[in-house]
Amino acid sequence: MTITKDALIYSLRDHSAKIGILGLGYVGLPLAVAFGEAGFQVFGIDPDLRKVKALNNGESYVQDVSEKQISRLVNNERLSATSDFSVLLHCDAVSICVPTPLRKTGDPDMSFILNATDELAKYMHPGMIIVLESTTYPGTTREVLLPKLGKDKGLVVGKDFFLAFSPERVDPGREDWTTLNTPKVIGGITEECSEVGATWYAQALNTVVPVSSAETAELSKLLENTFRMINIGVVNELAIMCERLGVDVWEVIDAAATKPFGFMKFYPGPGLGGHCIPIDPLYLSWKMKAFQYNARFIELAADINTNMPRYVVNRVMDAFNERGLALHNSNCLVLGVAYKPDVDDIRESPALDVIGLLQKKGAKVSYHDPFIPHLRTHDDIAMESVPDVMDAVRLADCIVIITNHSSYNYQAILKEAKFIFDSRNALGKLGKNNPKVVRL
Ligand SMILES: NC(=O)c1ccc[n+]([C@@H]2O[C@H](COP(=O)([O-])OP(=O)(O)OC[C@H]3O[C@@H](n4cnc5c(N)ncnc54)[C@H](O)[C@@H]3O)[C@@H](O)[C@H]2O)c1
Repeated sequence: MTITKDALIYSLRDHSAKIGILGLGYVGLPLAVAFGEAGFQVFGIDPDLRKVKALNNGESYVQDVSEKQISRLVNNERLSATSDFSVLLHCDAVSICVPTPLRKTGDPDMSFILNATDELAKYMHPGMIIVLESTTYPGTTREVLLPKLGKDKGLVVGKDFFLAFSPERVDPGREDWTTLNTPKVIGGITEECSEVGATWYAQALNTVVPVSSAETAELSKLLENTFRMINIGVVNELAIMCERLGVDVWEVIDAAATKPFGFMKFYPGPGLGGHCIPIDPLYLSWKMKAFQYNARFIELAADINTNMPRYVVNRVMDAFNERGLALHNSNCLVLGVAYKPDVDDIRESPALDVIGLLQKKGAKVSYHDPFIPHLRTHDDIAMESVPDVMDAVRLADCIVIITNHSSYNYQAILKEAKFIFDSRNALGKLGKNNPKVVRL
């Protein structure tokens, strides 16, 4: 054991190590809270001044983190936020939780990781453990972070400082599996890096799963999200095939799911949404191009899934036609625009595509979402959620359900609606064989 590693492990075990969290979003804030609750002093660092101010005032802007938790940690001086990266000088253990979106061209946008790493490099000192949490392509930790960290200061990885990757698995809105009790995979650049990283995370999280390399940890996250993306692609295609066959796709899936083994249930929908599933697998397919390998399953599923909003709008148009009506000039009310039920996140939501496509067909579109009071369409048009959902339902020519929020009274909506296109089977039995309802 080196003295540096010994000392760092000791300070992690007795919780005297100071923690830095770069990026205080959906991933970084719950992690900062988990370390604060475990008794560490945590510095949250984020260029977004509104978030910094809110946290220092004891306010939470992430649905899964309570105001009570934040104010308790802030009052006990366990958590503070800043936009000043020089606080990293005082940090022994740093997690990077910055966004990893796609560029308009579909390539990974690494600018957030690069900026955060450049800032961190300025304040590197011996005896630090750095863990990248942002979902990214395999090789990022070794090929992008490592060359930037410690070199100018003569610091050697695995000896003077430690570097690892640990994928975040948080599922916003979920109460049974949280940051605290969801097993956490971690893989280091060297064996020593894995050991230090696992020791750190085990102080705050229930189960830590060390793996042999950063690349294994990076790929494990991409496998999880690719698995979901491809399976959703399969059931979306099944929904398209079922429509042609005149078979109820929802009944088919529920029937298949009665098999007690070897089958896992996925449901079709208007398209993928959220920060992860539509994006992360494309990081892998992008990386594989450098190896002259075409990740065919990913490309195929992406193709099917990204066409779902168009498919939904075409089905809405058909439903108007079948009623001797036109979508053009009609009043369409989109119910739910968040990317999944009961969350306040609209990132990559297929609702934005559906709204844009309905508008292009000449429909007058309004929307309601209890979690999203306003939005900007892909054409940069500002929209506000209608104030009273039932008034809007009565006025609309058609209701298009995109997100099946649990707070809606679907029975009342069905009673008042002229007709409904239900892309989520939100109406369940109420919608089956109902002439007012068209289901995906
Ligand atoms: N949201 C999820 O459900 C989820 C789940 C698993 C993994 N992830 C992954 O975790 C990462 C973070 O996602 P998120 O949802 O928390 O994003 P987010 O946008 O909610 O938060 C990211 C934060 O990073 C800040 N930031 C930007 N540049 C920075 C910099 N240079 N230094 C410090 N902070 C900076 C932003 O201001 C923002 O507050 C992404 O790679 C994402 O794919 C997200």
